[in-house]
Amino acid sequence: MDSIVVTGNGPLSGQIPIAGAKNACLTLMPATLLSDEPLTLTNAPRLSDIRTMTLLLQSLGAEVQGLQEDQVLAMSSHSLTSTRAEYDIVRKMRASILVLGPLLARHGHAEVSLPGGCAIGARPVDLHLKALEAMGAELELKEGYVHAKAPAGGLRGGVVEFPFVTVGATENALMAATLAKGTTVLKNAAREPEIVDLAQCLRKMGAQIAGEGTDTIEIQGVDRLGGATHRVVTDRIELGTYMLAPAICGGEVECLGGTIALVESFCEKLDAAGVGVEETATGLKVSRKNGRVRAVDVVTEPFPGFPTDLQAQMMALLCTAEGTSVLEEKIFENRFMHAPELIRMGAQIDVHGGTATVTGVEKLKGAPVMATDLRASVSLILAGLAAEGETVVSRVYHLDRGYEHVVRKLRGVGAKIERVKGD
Ligand code: EPZ
Repeated sequence: MDSIVVTGNGPLSGQIPIAGAKNACLTLMPATLLSDEPLTLTNAPRLSDIRTMTLLLQSLGAEVQGLQEDQVLAMSSHSLTSTRAEYDIVRKMRASILVLGPLLARHGHAEVSLPGGCAIGARPVDLHLKALEAMGAELELKEGYVHAKAPAGGLRGGVVEFPFVTVGATENALMAATLAKGTTVLKNAAREPEIVDLAQCLRKMGAQIAGEGTDTIEIQGVDRLGGATHRVVTDRIELGTYMLAPAICGGEVECLGGTIALVESFCEKLDAAGVGVEETATGLKVSRKNGRVRAVDVVTEPFPGFPTDLQAQMMALLCTAEGTSVLEEKIFENRFMHAPELIRMGAQIDVHGGTATVTGVEKLKGAPVMATDLRASVSLILAGLAAEGETVVSRVYHLDRGYEHVVRKLRGVGAKIERVKGD
């Protein structure tokens, strides 16, 4: 397994290009199953999760032109050969469950393996299933697979009221509803930019959708959907991650393609911590002059609140802040696994249940640490950028799921970082 070696190297300066959003692409790709005409995605990120979703779609018989240099994903599910998503692919990536709604809506039946949990939590899919049942689907759990069947006349529009905000279940329900007969209303729907991006793509395919980006989305089912070409929205989590590099090291970095709208609540916290953010014609310019950042409290919430996917990275910054910060993780039950690794670097963190209290220190010390999940891995790299000495982050395969060219992007702004091939 490869490692990443990073050595504190002072302030950063330059530009970092931000890629298309992993979490938008992972729901846009299954949308191809809703139509027999081609769906082409541009600005698609080159990540291992995207390759996993490619393999899954291909296992169903969909054609997926892999990522060429220009990050285009050309897909067609004109001649599907299967509606069964096998465990050995689904277990690698939870987002595989997002083929369930489209398969059910267009083909009337599907067998999708339950994804299983992951490092950050049990992550059940009960709300995905309840939403599809509200559209008339009959679901049965057998030997670890969801066996789903639509009524003879196809899915019917229905009212889906989510007990709490769930991104994936909103996406599954939204895609299924586009071909359900009649009107579907999603209440307490997720409002993430990735949901808005999906709705915009579905509309280009002929779907009738209103209200995306609010907590109530209304969909009028149509008989069929056509093809489309759609540009994947900028990745707000990659954006926030790289904005923290100059925040933790000092200096000034422009994140190309970033907008305040994508990371508004995150920018409010950076501002409170004493980090400057300026929207330019080409992105977001982030700067921190000398002196430590100030401690701030953080509570993770569904969009437009502070994103849980930036909690680990923000904790790395707050480990070096002046004062004590309290971080509350309200979305997942086990998302502080980066804390013990940061403590190995000299951080002072006290974790009790879903709350982490961080007392900032002047300087972290480089150390060998281990990545435990995608966002934790990049949090350790950020900490290493500002630490004294060398930090070796192992198990960086986690990183490859969500960040392309980390070494190249950070080296480009003056970081001392390299990837070391492992066995
Ligand atoms: C999406 O996961 C993202 N993944 C996650 O990003 C992100 O952290 C999460 O949304 C929250 O923003 C993708 O988009 C591929 P949820 P998702 O359904 O859809 C519980 C990353 O780092 N829940 O909003 O799985 C669930 O356990 C990843 O890129 C149920 O109980 O998240 C969690 O506690 C990590 N039953 C909470 O709801 C359900 O049926 C929010 O989950 C569904 C969810």
